[in-house]
Amino acid sequence: MANFPIKRLRRLRYNPSVRDLVRETVLTKNDLIYPLFVVPGQKIKKEIRSMPGVYQMSVDVIVEECKDVEKLGIPAVILFGIPEHKDEVGSGAYDPNGIIQKAVRAIKKGTNKLLVITDVCLCEYTSHGHCGVLNGEKILNDETVELLVKESLSHAEAGADIIAPSDMMDGRIGAIRKALDEKGFIETPILSYAVKYASGFYGPFRDAAESAPAFGDRRSHQMDIANGNEALREAETDIEEGADIIMVKPAGAYLDIIWRVKEKFGMPTAAYQVSGEYAMIKAAGRNNWIDEERVMIESLTAIKRAGADMILTYFAKDVVNYLQKVS
Ligand code: PBG
Repeated sequence: MANFPIKRLRRLRYNPSVRDLVRETVLTKNDLIYPLFVVPGQKIKKEIRSMPGVYQMSVDVIVEECKDVEKLGIPAVILFGIPEHKDEVGSGAYDPNGIIQKAVRAIKKGTNKLLVITDVCLCEYTSHGHCGVLNGEKILNDETVELLVKESLSHAEAGADIIAPSDMMDGRIGAIRKALDEKGFIETPILSYAVKYASGFYGPFRDAAESAPAFGDRRSHQMDIANGNEALREAETDIEEGADIIMVKPAGAYLDIIWRVKEKFGMPTAAYQVSGEYAMIKAAGRNNWIDEERVMIESLTAIKRAGADMILTYFAKDVVNYLQKVS
């Protein structure tokens, strides 16, 4: 690279049309998955304090929302449910008439081709806010996997297009795949939250999903933020167990991990720009400390450049509106 002045990298930067020609990464609406929070009741649309522009919605409202999302051309939503009642074993998660099951049926009926992905975990459904069955303060792995299997099956039976386990129990992908196949859901893909870190960036989500743990934290099952090689072992395990899509979460602070997972396995790879990432950009934008729209696009383009094929983001609708505006 030392042969200046023959080599001038700025030559391709002076003219905006030349910049357009050589751009390597372009965000499109097809990259986006929009997360939604479903609550019991009717006509409810309640903004989440720490996530401006994101709402808890009742089933009737969410169906209308999904029609808009489909009209915008966003291919998929992912649903999180807040049940009427919580208990020790999270029964609301696998109730055939639970909040998610109702929402999936209504959305599939009210839309044409919108993909409905369901998050599979127990933390929103347990009275203690932990992701599994407890013995004292310990989350039991294998007993929890049994319930996650029930939850996944009930989502598939309600009509979910893709099942997305986010719990980080060992062995759940294999168990869920086997159960889905036995019930005839051989064509239903699993999007595994394979590489999920015990992250502070999930703070606002716990307001949104009312799922903060009553004691302790999630470090006994989610990954240590300091580990990279372990991410590859997590991804490999889930791929072997039958995951069709691998997720890395959070996204922005883990671009190296997205890159390594994509390079090593070449699998369809998802990344989750989580609630805290969204909240920080929103808050700084509202204070005019940063240009919100610009940082939104920059953060998502970086996630795609790192190797993500799809991005779960609370900005999904804003991105499509922006892309329409600039095109
Ligand atoms: C678990 C789940 C969480 C998120 C997605 N699925 C919370 C957690 O693990 O504590 C976080 C998403 C976000 O922060 O936007 N059901």
